[in-house]
Amino acid sequence: MFVCQACGHESARWLGKCPGCGAWNSLEEEVARKQGKGHPPASGESARRIGDLDESKQERTRTGIAEFDGLLGGGIVRGSFILIGGEPGIGKSTLMLQVAAALAQGGERVLYVSAEESFPQAKLRAQRIGAEAETLFVLCEADMEAIITEAKKTDVSIVVVDSIQIVYHPDIPSAPGSVNQVRECAAALMRTAKSRGISIFIVGHVTKSGDIAGPRMLEHMVDTVLYFEGDRHQAYRVLRTRKNRFGSTEEVGIFSMGPGGLKEVGDPSRLFLQERRPENSGSVVTPSMEGTRPILVEIQALVGARSFGVPQRRSLGIDYNRLCMLIAVLETRAGLSLRDRDVFASVAGGLTVEETAIDLAIALALASSLKGASVAPDTVAIGEVGLGGELRGCQHTERRLREAGKLGFTRAILPRSSAGEGMERFGLKLVPCETVGEAIKAVVKENPKSQIPNPK
Ligand code: TYD
Ligand code: MG
Repeated sequence: MFVCQACGHESARWLGKCPGCGAWNSLEEEVARKQGKGHPPASGESARRIGDLDESKQERTRTGIAEFDGLLGGGIVRGSFILIGGEPGIGKSTLMLQVAAALAQGGERVLYVSAEESFPQAKLRAQRIGAEAETLFVLCEADMEAIITEAKKTDVSIVVVDSIQIVYHPDIPSAPGSVNQVRECAAALMRTAKSRGISIFIVGHVTKSGDIAGPRMLEHMVDTVLYFEGDRHQAYRVLRTRKNRFGSTEEVGIFSMGPGGLKEVGDPSRLFLQERRPENSGSVVTPSMEGTRPILVEIQALVGARSFGVPQRRSLGIDYNRLCMLIAVLETRAGLSLRDRDVFASVAGGLTVEETAIDLAIALALASSLKGASVAPDTVAIGEVGLGGELRGCQHTERRLREAGKLGFTRAILPRSSAGEGMERFGLKLVPCETVGEAIKAVVKENPKSQIPNPK
């Protein structure tokens, strides 16, 4: 049997291109396990009326790490199966060891299986982050059967398996990390989770393009999928829920990585604005939403003289196509001349913002950089920009304004449709605008000493 290592598609013969996901050269031969072995026995239960079911039986265990508990919907549901994905080096092992220690300090019996590290390495990490607790057990093992036996023997209620790509099931001949191995190991763990009421966390590495290396199907098997994101070279990390059978997927947890491990960041807006130089041109602050939480971020733009034949456009943390569209709108609808300029735009601090409500801030930052004039530092901008240059309202305006007011901002540029009644109560002077051109006139003043030489 040939199995696609990207999507799990199975084929009887080798194919150059996977019919399932279109990936090239991704099919590898794997020997399937003998049919019928290892399936869980039938539960023997009969169907029940939905009205008779009782949801209060769902026990939750809190870790005491508020950002983490919040993400899971208020703690770990007993017997749940949770996947933590993220790029190598982002801090998955650190987070899980901290979570394991916090749970053990709360009285749970926890087994942390480190398949990638040795005991001394695990000890070093634990010392670094102060993860010591009486009922925290560590096992450095990659054999799935041995892991499950040990979990039963130590009678733990929570198991962390770090990572699913390294462990292997002795009955499966394929290499660790292959689709068959990952599927079998995850299935064996799931059976243990459901039959003994043990909550299991599995750590999975994700490649740069966002795939959990090889096995996407892990996402279907687990109850909850958490993704750990961020720039390895920056301190902050965002933990996001991609799927949750026991809560909402709107939440995010924000942490910063330091010498003593991960710390919760209670006030992320301050973190992202702390190095801001408000007197710079091309800098505009916008309250963007991460899930249901507003975070103030600084949008930076740099418009310069063209250095090569074709003007360059580069973006970091902002969608590239969106940036190109905004440049075109500014040209056509607001009369700015960007055609012959190099344009760079980014979100300071390495955050990635996907929502369109930051459009106006990008447009104002571009105009500010082009004109060499800074935007007043107490100003925030909110709004989507349409192709006609019109400003469009966006969700959660109140929450955004409240966060901006809390951090001392006093003026908000926003679409007229968003400046409804009662919006002034957050202490900001509202400047409602209908078009992006109007917004630029309101906040970006022409600077006669602009530094950018005009292209010939
Ligand atoms: P790690 O948890 O090993 O990442 P992953 O399991 O996702 O591959 O953490 C990786 C980085 O975190 C590593 O480069 C070192 C850094 N780190 C700290 O900055 N402080 C700490 O206390 C620890 C334990 C790690
Ligand atoms: Mg690790």
